[in-house]
Amino acid sequence: MLRTTAPRLLTAAALAGVLSAASAGLADRAVAQGQAKPSAAALAKVTERQENFKAIGGAFKAVRGELEKDSPDYALIAAKAGDINARARRVGGLFPAGTSTASGIKTEALPAIWSKPDAFKAAAQKLVDESGKLKTAAATRNKQAVAAQAMALGGACKGCHDQFRLPAK
Ligand code: HEC
Repeated sequence: MLRTTAPRLLTAAALAGVLSAASAGLADRAVAQGQAKPSAAALAKVTERQENFKAIGGAFKAVRGELEKDSPDYALIAAKAGDINARARRVGGLFPAGTSTASGIKTEALPAIWSKPDAFKAAAQKLVDESGKLKTAAATRNKQAVAAQAMALGGACKGCHDQFRLPAK
């Protein structure tokens, strides 16, 4: 009879929904938890920011490598500092909403980035400032001054990571 069939159909539909939710990916699970699924554009920004930081890491490593030598290549240090500086200016635009560790995607970006936007902005600006100062210091070819400024730049990395990046396991 119609009266009993209708609820049974509803139950079947609900069950199908549960089953499909169970097989859904991480991003879909985030939706089930009430978080918006990151758009393709947002996910592209996440990839871009991770590649940007990877390149920043490579450039900084090259700087430290030069400073271990008796005669560092100051032109190379200046170029790497300039690269970090240009990349630092892009950081602020690579954190679209809904792309933190809470969104279920592969990222080390902590939710604090979005809950403390002024502190994050200041940390990103510090990266711009300290890398700019390293480029200037490299022009002096004074190893002590360049090494001191490289240390200050490292402090800018650590200052942000301590607050805003998932700690390494
Ligand atoms: C304003 C904050 C901030 C500053 C400053 C910063 N980082 Fe990061 N870094 C992050 C965040 C957040 C992530 C995680 C990004 C993600 O997983 O989506 C990250 C990730 C990284 C990664 C891993 C990239 C990957 O996915 O493979 C490296 C390497 C890295 N940072 C190096 C550096 C170095 C070196 C400096 C300084 C010269 C620096 N970072 C400065 C916030 C910062």
